[in-house]
Amino acid sequence: YSVNKAKLPIEDTYVVAHRGASGYAPENTLEAFALAKKMEADFIELDIQRTKDGTLIVLHDKLVDRTTNGEGKVKDLSLHDIQQLDAGSWFNEKYPKYAKKEYVGAKVPTLEQVFETFGNSIQYIIELKSPHLYPKMEMELLNLLEKYQIEDDHIIIQSFDEKCLVNIHKQNANIPLFQLLKRPNTDEQQLKLIKKYAVGVGPNFKRINEDYVRKAKSFQLYIHPYTLNDEFEIETALNWGVSGIITNYPDKVKRKL
Ligand code: G3P
Ligand code: CA
Repeated sequence: YSVNKAKLPIEDTYVVAHRGASGYAPENTLEAFALAKKMEADFIELDIQRTKDGTLIVLHDKLVDRTTNGEGKVKDLSLHDIQQLDAGSWFNEKYPKYAKKEYVGAKVPTLEQVFETFGNSIQYIIELKSPHLYPKMEMELLNLLEKYQIEDDHIIIQSFDEKCLVNIHKQNANIPLFQLLKRPNTDEQQLKLIKKYAVGVGPNFKRINEDYVRKAKSFQLYIHPYTLNDEFEIETALNWGVSGIITNYPDKVKRKL
């Protein structure tokens, strides 16, 4: 099967808003996701971690330090601690050009809040960050997808962690999975193995070429390289025929399609 065969032909190009429209709003916040939706990105990509008391939250790093005014590891902080943090002011300071008053005091969302806010009105690519740190995290994610009735054609789960993806595939073979690859192998063997459990690959753009895109597509694997913010790189990837572009600037990519 493929990711919703009828609606997502592999020959199309999907715009994936990396951590939301994170070029214009603080990454992995409801504000960044709402903006991505407004820009008509096809998917929002988000990263999940788990708090000390077991709640899945949306944050890229293992530590809260870079994107909030707090410090420490997510796994050592309670949900209550994390909900006190300001996840927006750092963005205004770092990117004054796109700063907005309403970003001050933006919250780190729980995954449930994201599903409550957007439901099936957008499509998600959810990345399991460091699943080795959070045993059974993948089962909790599957339970939430069920609880919020997120449809199989509205979700892709991705990870660099192959074991975790294979485990999800065993639990539910209907959920489309993407294998992220920091250093993709240029031979076909790796793609052949990935094809057994995943429907797509998310390789580091810096380490692929047109031939790699062709090979992935010859296995009927979607290919969404990360992370393309530069005009020239976006155009290059489009010319190679990738099936998706992961970007902090979904509007920039949309203009080129
Ligand atoms: O979608 C792939 C990309 O998100 C992986 O890298 O570090 O931005 O999560 P990172
Ligand atoms: Ca990610």
